[in-house]
Amino acid sequence: MTRESESGLPIEPVYGPDALDGWDPAEKLGEPGGYPYTRGVYPSMYTGRPWTMRQYAGFGTAAESNRRYKQLIAHGTTGLSVAFDLPTQMGHDSDAAIASGEVGKVGVAIDSVDDMRVLFDGIPLDRVSTSMTINSPAALLLLMYQLVAEDQGVSARQLTGTVQNDVLKEYIARGTYIFPPGPSLRLTADIFRYCRAEIPRWNTISISGYHMAEAGATPAQEIAFTLADGIEYVRTAVAAGMDVDDFAPRLSFFFVARTTILEEVAKFRAARRIWARVMKEEFGAENPKSLMLRFHTQTAGVQLTAQQPEVNLVRVAVQGLAAVLGGTQSLHTNSFDEAIALPTDKSARLALRTQQVLAYETDVTATVDPFAGSYAVERMTDDIEAAALKLMLRVEDMGGAVSAIERGFQKNEIELSAYRVALETDSAERVVVGVNRFRLDEEEPYEPLRVDPEIEARQAARLTLLRAERDRGAVDTALAALRRAAAGTDNVLYPMKDALRARATVGEVCDALREVWGTYVPADAF
Ligand code: 3HC
Repeated sequence: MTRESESGLPIEPVYGPDALDGWDPAEKLGEPGGYPYTRGVYPSMYTGRPWTMRQYAGFGTAAESNRRYKQLIAHGTTGLSVAFDLPTQMGHDSDAAIASGEVGKVGVAIDSVDDMRVLFDGIPLDRVSTSMTINSPAALLLLMYQLVAEDQGVSARQLTGTVQNDVLKEYIARGTYIFPPGPSLRLTADIFRYCRAEIPRWNTISISGYHMAEAGATPAQEIAFTLADGIEYVRTAVAAGMDVDDFAPRLSFFFVARTTILEEVAKFRAARRIWARVMKEEFGAENPKSLMLRFHTQTAGVQLTAQQPEVNLVRVAVQGLAAVLGGTQSLHTNSFDEAIALPTDKSARLALRTQQVLAYETDVTATVDPFAGSYAVERMTDDIEAAALKLMLRVEDMGGAVSAIERGFQKNEIELSAYRVALETDSAERVVVGVNRFRLDEEEPYEPLRVDPEIEARQAARLTLLRAERDRGAVDTALAALRRAAAGTDNVLYPMKDALRARATVGEVCDALREVWGTYVPADAF
């Protein structure tokens, strides 16, 4: 299917049936740090700088999470990664009825810029790179981070980090979406444009395959549906009038690392090669940084077992090795007890120590892409690439990622894969040590970490105080300006920043946008 480009030129997708014909093997492999980046995005890779050890963390109040971040920094983590609770991710305040029971549970509760100041208290934002796993309200958390940096005297141009900002995968696999696809993609493009102008070193999006993999996607489905989402975001920004080289260097990705080391290394190499070609041949990107698929990896949470949880230490080490051999830029290693509860201080430290052993005790960081030339891995790279390109063509034939999402295509394909894995596990064809083989008759007791049950009341009290102290008129004026921008075409991040600076809450800002844009109802909702 040939699509018309904005200039009326036919776009010949690079993922057609003959996409791989006649591609010279040496050209397909390339050099490390050179097109098509099969062997990695930097010439020196880890011999120049190890990957960023970036542990996803956050729970309870901002003060409790701030303590965990300082612990991780003291233990040697080299990047921060913020987990937010569901009310924050869904744009509700901690004292909203819908938030009850979820405040501070799967991440930190952030209601306003006051909480953001506590979250980063004593952490110099000019010297740390922070990832924030936030999607529909990504703009709010990015702006509050910028406001806290301003309080520290740090200019926005010094800030480095990432917002996940990938709502398409939320419709497919994770579920923390708020607005319909149209306004969500407009907000994504607004963030691209705002960061280009105000926070140029910020990675504006982390296009994620992790959650699709955790929902059951195969390696080929994981990269195909993720790259198809990426193509949708690039088309949206180009259609909004941005030049591809103005925003593409700050796109980033996020994948899983499973225990199947060789297949995962091949998956990462295939993803880099496909993305480089799509950006060069379909979008005409010329800046080499626009062609590089830079990614974060998290070890596969779905492979952790509650049975014999200490065995997970071995799984995470193997998965982390797969990510490193595959050339990841940033890595989160799961804690061995995460199948049971939130990580304790000790299990969180052990997860980080796993990365430090890989980086400083093994020799896998001394050679760039050590599997290059391996018959097995090169063949697997080609096979996963061909399977992914075929799937990308099916999405393209449906009109692209959003059209396919609205038909439920990606979700159905992933559910079918998940069902196959479940059958193989139930029959023990797919071995899960400690679960369907090598079981214990009697599991040993384990004492999990517990979140303070008073968190909800404490967070509600903070909100009551904030609403009493702030200038209500300033908040109302700023929210009215935000509604006007959302109804028009102006970039919403500027009035949004004024509202957040006036101490408007996450819930108030998102409610203002809900009033204008409505909310998304999935195709299969009943
Ligand atoms: N040679 C030359 N330069 C190098 C280099 C080398 N070998 N290695 C690194 N560098 C440079 C880079 O160019 C970069 O320079 P820049 O600042 O000018 O861009 C700098 O050193 C930092 O290197 P990277 O950009 O490679 O590493 P970062 O860690 O800063 O960024 C990323 C990595 C993938 C691009 C970024 O987007 C990132 O950090 N993503 C993290 C996403 C994340 O943590 N997500 C968590 C999700 S958890 C979740 O979803 C919830 C749960 O349900 C799973």
